[in-house]
Amino acid sequence: MATGNGTLQGKVVIITGGGTGLGKMTALLMAKEGADIVIAARRVGAIEQTAKEVRDIGPRALAIPTDVKDSQQVNSMVERTLAEMGGLDILVNNAGIVRGQERKPLWEITDEEWHLGINTNLTGAFHCSRAVIKHFLDQGHGKIINIASGNGMRGQRGDFMYGTAKAGLINFTRILATTFAPNNIQVNCIAPGFIDVTQLQPEPVSSAFFRNAQFIPVGRFGVPEDIGHLALFLASEASDYITGGLFANDGGGLAGGVSPTGYAPVIAMEED
Ligand SMILES: NC(=O)c1ccc[n+]([C@@H]2O[C@H](COP(=O)([O-])OP(=O)(O)OC[C@H]3O[C@@H](n4cnc5c(N)ncnc54)[C@H](OP(=O)(O)O)[C@@H]3O)[C@@H](O)[C@H]2O)c1
Repeated sequence: MATGNGTLQGKVVIITGGGTGLGKMTALLMAKEGADIVIAARRVGAIEQTAKEVRDIGPRALAIPTDVKDSQQVNSMVERTLAEMGGLDILVNNAGIVRGQERKPLWEITDEEWHLGINTNLTGAFHCSRAVIKHFLDQGHGKIINIASGNGMRGQRGDFMYGTAKAGLINFTRILATTFAPNNIQVNCIAPGFIDVTQLQPEPVSSAFFRNAQFIPVGRFGVPEDIGHLALFLASEASDYITGGLFANDGGGLAGGVSPTGYAPVIAMEED
């Protein structure tokens, strides 16, 4: 049984990268609100597990193995969604490479590494948005939620592919929003700060990074629910007048400008 208020009852949502982390939490929160969920990512075991947990909550779920870098796979995933779920109302472009892109001198970055970072974090969202937009136009409504990053708004040292792609995703959001605003299609962007997703991996991990949150104004790292609840709001009718929005969800990190850039040393500002 879905346990929420039914705010997404009857809606069908695609969440890319929904087998782990923020995408998984968003899938489960939206399922609790009654939405049927399609989970699209590469690791079959992880997306099948999220689908099972959605079905345990109540709504229908479909796990479709998809590499968002591959437009053919994305087109097939959307076609299968429409055929098997009977519709589509919301797209969450969440797939991304957070880690695993080694930071190295600019001159050592290969073409392959550049394209991997840009194609996963930016082009994937283009592929998915292009694949759903005609359907949204035909039905006269739709919502797209892009998951960018605070690093799309700051130049973190050595963060070439990720930071550049996320900055692109932020402006892609605005361009989609203004282009389709007259068509009752809302497009918004969430820029998470540092969110601890270590417990929402197929093998939960621990990370030393998440031990010291003193650089975050609220004094703690984010939890996946912090992002999931905002995504839920942006998927709901309560946000129908919001489009082209960029929502930092980071415990005040951008407001304070104090997130680590990998450059400035930590300097004590106050005596304890
Ligand atoms: N956690 C944070 O602190 C934080 C901060 C800022 C922004 N974000 C953004 O939030 C989003 C979710 O990240 P997360 O923290 O939840 O990390 P995560 O658990 O690693 O989630 C990323 C997801 O993206 C999927 N993915 C990666 N490449 C893909 C591809 N080519 N095709 C399809 N799916 C792909 C992965 O699944 P497969 O590997 O199975 O494909 C994985 O499930 C990302 O866009 C990330 O940049 C996170």
